[in-house]
Amino acid sequence: KRNLTTNQIGHQIIHYNQIDSTNRVAKEQAKNGVKEGTVIISEEQTGGKGRLNRNFSSPQGGIWLSYILSPDLKPVMAGRATYLSALALAKTINQITNLDAKIKWPNDVLINDKKVSGILTEMGAELDKVNYLAIGMGINANFAISKLPVELHNKVTTIFNELGEQIDRVAFVQSLLQEIEKLYPKLDNFEELLAEWKGYAYTLGQEVKIADGNQEYSGLAVDIADDGALIVKTDRGQEKVYSGDVSLSHQ
Ligand code: BTN
Repeated sequence: KRNLTTNQIGHQIIHYNQIDSTNRVAKEQAKNGVKEGTVIISEEQTGGKGRLNRNFSSPQGGIWLSYILSPDLKPVMAGRATYLSALALAKTINQITNLDAKIKWPNDVLINDKKVSGILTEMGAELDKVNYLAIGMGINANFAISKLPVELHNKVTTIFNELGEQIDRVAFVQSLLQEIEKLYPKLDNFEELLAEWKGYAYTLGQEVKIADGNQEYSGLAVDIADDGALIVKTDRGQEKVYSGDVSLSHQ
């Protein structure tokens, strides 16, 4: 592997050809006391995990990685790492390709309205303090969409499909880790991080539908609150949304 120019993020990279889930390994490593900045990466995952306990297809040619942070944060602020990661990812895609990546709240990165990447942040905490974060990022990079389950084809894409050619995955990971390292200090200054994040926001200003458990409602996504919640204007007034699946009403 070529040299990295980061100091902290990626100082140690553990590489697999195949593993069940890099997040599973990252959590195990973090519990064993491995240093923050450690990156776990696999060419392929056999049990990739998505949000809300979903499966996440991770064929060869993608970029499936997790990294470990141990920030001095309260557990309720752990979600900030997801904003940081989505921003780093959107910036990297826009640097490495001429595509225009956007972030769909809270954590999907889209190209041409379709999901190209998902992020899963998992946490270990004790005494109201974050012990570690295992942040998993899955990027549909160098494979054709036909490698993914057919029911995903209308809402998911790959960089290869959008670009018509393969990207240099090593260069991509190098940029990504550099962006993460640059943004890391901003976990303490969430306002600044959010301001930059909003420059890539896909959802803001659009009519959205929110599915949260068995509730479903729609409204206009107007802003992101200081705590990271999506602010939606509905017939009942303004509401803060903390979780759930958001889709554009016209889709
Ligand atoms: C989602 O969109 O629901 C989140 C997907 C997160 C997938 C990544 S791939 C690397 C890491 N290992 C996992 O098992 N999941 C994350």
